[in-house]
Amino acid sequence: MAATALIVLAAGRGTRLRSALPKVLHHAGGRSLLAQVLAAGADAGLPAADTFVVAGYAAEQVRAAVAPSAARVILQEPQRGTGHALQVAAPALVAYSQIIVLHGDMPVVSATTVSRLRAELEAGADAVLATATPDKPRAYGRILRDRKQPEQVVAIVEDRQASPAQKQIRELNAGFYAFRLQPLLVALGQLGTNNPHGEFYLTDTIALMAQAGAKIRAYPLPDPVEILGINDRIELAEVDALLRRRKSEALMTQGVSIYTPATVAVDPEVTAGQDCVLEPGVQLRGQTTLGANCRIGAYSILTDCRLDDGVEVLPHCVLERAHVGAGARVGPFTRLREQAEIAPGAHLGNFVEVKKSRIGEGAKAMHLAYLGDAQIGARVNIGAGTITCNYDGDQKHPTAIGEETFVGSNSTLVAPLEIAAGAYVAAGSVITGPVPAGALALGRGRQVNKPGWVAARKKKAGSSQRGG
Ligand code: UD1
Ligand code: CA
Repeated sequence: MAATALIVLAAGRGTRLRSALPKVLHHAGGRSLLAQVLAAGADAGLPAADTFVVAGYAAEQVRAAVAPSAARVILQEPQRGTGHALQVAAPALVAYSQIIVLHGDMPVVSATTVSRLRAELEAGADAVLATATPDKPRAYGRILRDRKQPEQVVAIVEDRQASPAQKQIRELNAGFYAFRLQPLLVALGQLGTNNPHGEFYLTDTIALMAQAGAKIRAYPLPDPVEILGINDRIELAEVDALLRRRKSEALMTQGVSIYTPATVAVDPEVTAGQDCVLEPGVQLRGQTTLGANCRIGAYSILTDCRLDDGVEVLPHCVLERAHVGAGARVGPFTRLREQAEIAPGAHLGNFVEVKKSRIGEGAKAMHLAYLGDAQIGARVNIGAGTITCNYDGDQKHPTAIGEETFVGSNSTLVAPLEIAAGAYVAAGSVITGPVPAGALALGRGRQVNKPGWVAARKKKAGSSQRGG
């Protein structure tokens, strides 16, 4: 196949979003509009090294967003139109014989569309442009076809320049193109700015190329939804919902049940195994992966988590960068933070927070606990209200608890601390030193009962009142 570059036009400002952030860096479907468009190119087999992003407004922010990939940024300053964007990019494209052009603010574009544009070009056209014929008219460029040879496109007329008759044309220019570079470069050199915006229009290259005898073909989009672009935050919300639904439907097709999918938000890179169930309001973010048979309870939010098979997350959990082993159960209202490692079969209950800790196989912490920088052995029971005091105001310290140890309710475990296997910590203890294996550790004030004390106090209070 011929050397193909992908050009993403992203220099515009997006005034109607009323934002300090450039339009293409706003998010829909769990990633930026620009990232969505770049993913369509990548999924169609166009490598990042052959990808060019034309940036202008807030170019440094766009550059920073693109930096982690091998794609290159071309600065268009000032921004004098879509044709000008290509004129500015042209010197960087000498190594290529053909290009794909996409708009950075049109994130619904699919990899299939990119592949089809390329395939139609390679079938012998000089230019191919995606078109759509939606039911509702839009202020998009209109497609003019040759009367005698209707497969030939002869021009795109912008909405503001269209005659009343041309405005009746329902076939619209989507803004996704494939060009053979040579004829495009010639046409770019002939562009003028005789239009209401005084800009160089990429769309004007079509008539110029057609007049020069180029073969220009339309690719009617099978799903016109791809022409949805983003101009304001209402459209942003609509496209977000659409992309979320696409992701949810992909998961459902793979065997995941999703209840009330309109309330569920799953990021693009999330994967879930067969027979997982997502209850209403669930969010799966970032690189989260679920094994088979996991159930995620209502309103739980998982970010960059790995769950093995058969994990149950009850409602209202917040899990971040945690690994949960097979058959473990957490929630409701559990919070797992970075490097929480929950071994298979462990159970964590309501208002239990775990950070940088390993909870051993079958261990339990069912109520109201903080476990930080702790290694907790298999089948340990952590009583309600147990706190690892891992921070001395200056440094963090570790706690280790051997397997099958029982930690009574409301224990305060002052780190650094080691409690050996099979020990027993009495409820309400403050534990500051090591506990040997199998020992009972008691660290609390001894209880004193004073018989008749209450009645004696009442009597005393009465006599002092009378006394005045
Ligand atoms: C453009 C097309 C129109 C098509 C529509 C589809 C032109 C002249 N018109 O109109 O036929 O129906 O898209 O959405 O191309 N950009 C730059 N540099 C610039 C100007 C724009 O990079 O100097 C970028 C924008 O950031 C945007 C894209 O190009 O991502 C399209 O520009 P925009 O001004 O939105 O074009 P439309 O008026 O929507
Ligand atoms: Ca636009």
